Amino acid sequence: MKIGIIVHSQTGHTNEVAQKLQEKLSAALDEVEIQQLRLEGGQQVSNENSKIENPPDVSAYDALIFGAPVQAFSLSKVMNIYLEQIPSLQDKKIALFVTKGLRFEWTGGTRAIGQMKKICQSKGGIIMGTGIIVWNKQRDGKIDEVAQKFSELF
Ligand SMILES: Cc1cc2nc3c(=O)[nH]c(=O)nc-3n(C[C@H](O)[C@H](O)[C@H](O)COP(=O)(O)O)c2cc1C
Repeated sequence: MKIGIIVHSQTGHTNEVAQKLQEKLSAALDEVEIQQLRLEGGQQVSNENSKIENPPDVSAYDALIFGAPVQAFSLSKVMNIYLEQIPSLQDKKIALFVTKGLRFEWTGGTRAIGQMKKICQSKGGIIMGTGIIVWNKQRDGKIDEVAQKFSELF
């Protein structure tokens, strides 16, 4: 089974989680690849005309994990732009996670996961699990918990 971990990470936190997931999942699964989303023209911040420079082709993977930061109480726009342009996720098994700075999950985390879920399901994807990681001193325990949970999904 080939798993794609497709992430947007502006300051590195979400990427750090993706790497830990890759380590954990690689122990049990054949191939686990990380793909980083970048905006065209090296832009840092998205606007309505922004496009993803390197949109990963989801058909290359049997299952997918999408990870992104919460920004302004919502899903990061870069991940939103990427998910919206995927032609189909028909019958793909999918797990979702976000990282966030504010301590409560409801300050953007629940909403961002809901946004990802809605787009993925509208394209035929099957959501297997989700995780919200608050970037605080307890984060390592939470990352391990999410990695364990995701390693049992596929
Ligand atoms: C522009 C901006 C907006 C943010 N808005 C929120 C927010 O609404 N809620 C929250 O919990 N964290 C917020 N954060 C914190 C990030 O979600 C958090 O630091 C995240 O782990 C960053 O992930 P990254 O390093 O992969 O980009 C914001 C950060 C930035 C830069």
